[in-house]
Amino acid sequence: MPLPLATATTGSATVGTSQDGSVPRHVAIIMDGNGRWAASRGLPRVAGHRAGAEAVTRCLKAARAQGLEYLTLYAFSSENWRRGPDEVADLKGLLRFYLRHKVAELHGQQVRILFVGEVHRFGPDLCDELARAERLTAHNTGMTLLLALSYGGRSEIVQAAKALARAAQRGEIDPDSIDEDVVSQHLLTAGIPDPDVIVRTSGEHRLSNFLLWQSAYAELVFLDQLWPDFNETSFMQILEIYARRDRRFGARPA
Ligand code: IPE
Ligand code: IPE
Ligand code: MG
Repeated sequence: MPLPLATATTGSATVGTSQDGSVPRHVAIIMDGNGRWAASRGLPRVAGHRAGAEAVTRCLKAARAQGLEYLTLYAFSSENWRRGPDEVADLKGLLRFYLRHKVAELHGQQVRILFVGEVHRFGPDLCDELARAERLTAHNTGMTLLLALSYGGRSEIVQAAKALARAAQRGEIDPDSIDEDVVSQHLLTAGIPDPDVIVRTSGEHRLSNFLLWQSAYAELVFLDQLWPDFNETSFMQILEIYARRDRRFGARPA
């Protein structure tokens, strides 16, 4: 049941309830626009990425305050390796800094942290830190934060296809038993509900290889705001837009 805009407020108030379907369980965000934010201030791109990391903190705070169950943040795509060694090194450095300074705090807030993507490409040291963060927070019962790192939707589907083909070859699975649920269980997001809403900041209107399978029935929200400008009000705006959408999943309109 869509919620009238007037009842949605900013600040510490919450919007609707998760029971009536007007509140998403899972919000996934393509955090875009760091470079343009920096360029508009005559700053190097890395300054935009630093400001983007601060926006992540604000977003997490708002998501927790609203009682969101799952938040997925697209931090680095499999195509972002094309950015060149300097920018990739800056992004890896920021990720390492963020892990060292924020994981303990998130753990204290009962946040469970998961990483999806080809994280081995970041090298063994960073990979170990990611694994440690996952282990530390594995039993937390608050919000689940998925960070998509070196993530690509197509390669995720390819690896699921390979795993299923190998299982069929070994006689462990009957090809006729492969259905949508089985494919979902072989994706990196196995066990996580599909996102209810996918948000992209910076005015770009594309998915850029993000959650291609999982986005089948997601509501798409495009914000003109650049990611470093994202704040609690932006998060509330997403919830307001979502609450006004009518999700039909192919059924006849009510
Ligand atoms: C998003 O900001 C961050 C990453 C993709 C790592 P961009 O760096 O893509 O910023 P723009 O799109 O160039 O403004
Ligand atoms: C998508 O942004 C990836 C992330 C936000 C992590 P990009 O800036 O890399 O996407 P394109 O190249 O504009 O499609
Ligand atoms: Mg971009």
